[in-house]
Amino acid sequence: MRLLVTLFLALPILMQAQGGRGRGAAARGADQTPAPVVEDGIPVTDPLIIAKCSGCHKKDEKGNLTRISWERTTPEGWQEAIKRMVRLNGLELKPDEARSIVKSLSATHGLAPEEAKPVMYFVEHRIQDEEFPNDTVREACAACHPIARARSWHRSKEEWDLLVNMHRGYFIVSEQSFRGRGAMAAAAGGGRGAAAPPAPGTPPVDARPPSDQAVEYLARDYSLNTAAWAAWRARMRAPKLSGRWLISGYQAGRGKVIGEMAIEPGASEDEFTTNVKLTYLKDGSTATRSGKSVVFTGYSWRGRSTTKNATEPSAQKAGGVPAELRETMWIAPDQNSMEGRWFWGGYEEFGYDVTLHRANDGVTVMGTDLSMIKTGSSAQKIKIYGDNFPKLTTADIDFGTGVTVKRIVEQTAQQAVVELDVDAKAIVGKRDVSIRRAVAPNAIAVFDKIDYIKVSPDTALARLGGVKFPKGYQQFEAIAYNRGPDGKLNTPDDVELGRVDAEWSLEEFYAVFGDDDKEFVGTMGPTGFFTPSAEGPNPKRKFSRNNYGDVWAVATYKGAQDKEGKPLTARSYLVVAIPLYVRWDESEGPK
Ligand code: HEC
Ligand code: HEC
Repeated sequence: MRLLVTLFLALPILMQAQGGRGRGAAARGADQTPAPVVEDGIPVTDPLIIAKCSGCHKKDEKGNLTRISWERTTPEGWQEAIKRMVRLNGLELKPDEARSIVKSLSATHGLAPEEAKPVMYFVEHRIQDEEFPNDTVREACAACHPIARARSWHRSKEEWDLLVNMHRGYFIVSEQSFRGRGAMAAAAGGGRGAAAPPAPGTPPVDARPPSDQAVEYLARDYSLNTAAWAAWRARMRAPKLSGRWLISGYQAGRGKVIGEMAIEPGASEDEFTTNVKLTYLKDGSTATRSGKSVVFTGYSWRGRSTTKNATEPSAQKAGGVPAELRETMWIAPDQNSMEGRWFWGGYEEFGYDVTLHRANDGVTVMGTDLSMIKTGSSAQKIKIYGDNFPKLTTADIDFGTGVTVKRIVEQTAQQAVVELDVDAKAIVGKRDVSIRRAVAPNAIAVFDKIDYIKVSPDTALARLGGVKFPKGYQQFEAIAYNRGPDGKLNTPDDVELGRVDAEWSLEEFYAVFGDDDKEFVGTMGPTGFFTPSAEGPNPKRKFSRNNYGDVWAVATYKGAQDKEGKPLTARSYLVVAIPLYVRWDESEGPK
């Protein structure tokens, strides 16, 4: 009820934003502050959008609709805002109308490829550490969702302000983040006037509320009108993607995958149908998939694919082949490559990291099955994969100095198995692999020793589930490193060598004495695959607590030793949380 009242009061202000200039200007006139520059909006010309939205979002003489014309975002951003219009504001739309509006707004009020790239991890559902301009912005805007959610929008200053109001209207708790601890402390200390003068040399403290500071930052760095968007609007063209594409991918827990995607035209110029064949390099197993996709804004691939040869559900959870997955990719402006993530799972926690290249008439080198080769090894077998390989001789293939291609064991047009000798003194580091003039940059690492390992990801989140909510699983991997040319561990010149098979265990994280989280949070499998326990109170636990907790995921690698002759170990901090009860980030794409 409280929510509704707040909203009701807020509505006239939220809706009249651009229309209410006169009043605002008069009020500002009184206190002598200059009127803000009113930015040009982006007119809406699509008759369906005007018909559906202009009842509430008034159209001005330039064709701008209030609010909508001063905002740009990703297809997901538009979908989310429109869903809220339906859920809370009484908009009525048929599903195909909603899809058409999301497409249309993504084209006229979207992001440029360069603007979208840094926030792709958000729509790809990757968990990633985020960078912030300062702690104030982090506290104001990243307490409930990633800051990427904000960075997925470009808006006028006024629209950033109204977004803060929208949060205040809908989520009372946001006030805590928006006012911040600083403001609370200042208020407790009698306000700004009462504060002691800062010591000489201390940087001035910004006493404005965190939400104001966040808006200032966003309005500057995520403004409505940008050169990048102006350029893309002019350059945007229909995606011409039909044809054969080569896939190079990686699935945590299962390693490298390669394959092909055949793309064919779909129902309209921005829709496609796909057929995919994938091969896992580790064991040679294959999978085929077929799907559909929509390309928004000329470069935002959103697809969905299915397969009949999905692995049975338990294997699927452990990183197998899913019956259905979603594809999110960023297509390079030249339309010759795309990259992104194909994902599935209750929390989209499983996925392939993929790069696709358009197949052409020439030789292409995509990569190798091994990620590292050791100095001093002889007759080391390695598989190179790519496309259009001619009949090869050893002279056609190059791994750089100190590595000799001894023999071609077998080859097809897409794979070559070769034997290598690696000089005992070969320089340690990443190498390009080339066949004639085609190159796979940094495809393999030459190393003399595995000096240490790291666990990936270094901090992780799993979610209890299995009763009413899905479990949120976590696959860990042990990644090997070499100390690099400077001879010191953990410095920027260290060489990442790729994953190694480790042994896995859980260890207690001693935050609360004697809480034994390790016994309750879930189980760690032999391949680094963590399965969380069920949600809900556990009577076996003190105070019948939920099974949540935090632990260390520990990898032990016996294939190499540290200075004291002990096996290499590394660990990752794993939080096992309660289920996410409310989901609002359903993504865009064909249904
Ligand atoms: C029945 C009235 C109504 C209709 C119809 C309507 N809206 Fe809204 N819209 C609102 C209200 C109220 C707000 C302010 C509160 C909010 O953001 O939810 C709003 C706010 C917005 C915002 C700003 C959200 C933000 O993050 O700042 C966008 C964008 C928007 N609407 C898009 C649309 C689009 C697109 C349509 C048509 C497909 C539409 N609206 C139709 C009532 C409506
Ligand atoms: C108290 C939690 C909370 C805080 C703090 C918070 N947000 Fe949000 N935000 C949400 C929720 C929940 C939604 C989803 C709204 C909905 O139902 O569509 C959201 C949605 C959004 C959206 C999508 C807008 C739309 O129209 O759908 C943007 C952009 C955003 N937040 C930016 C920010 C910024 C910028 C800040 C800091 C000034 C911030 N958020 C702080 C909870 C929060």
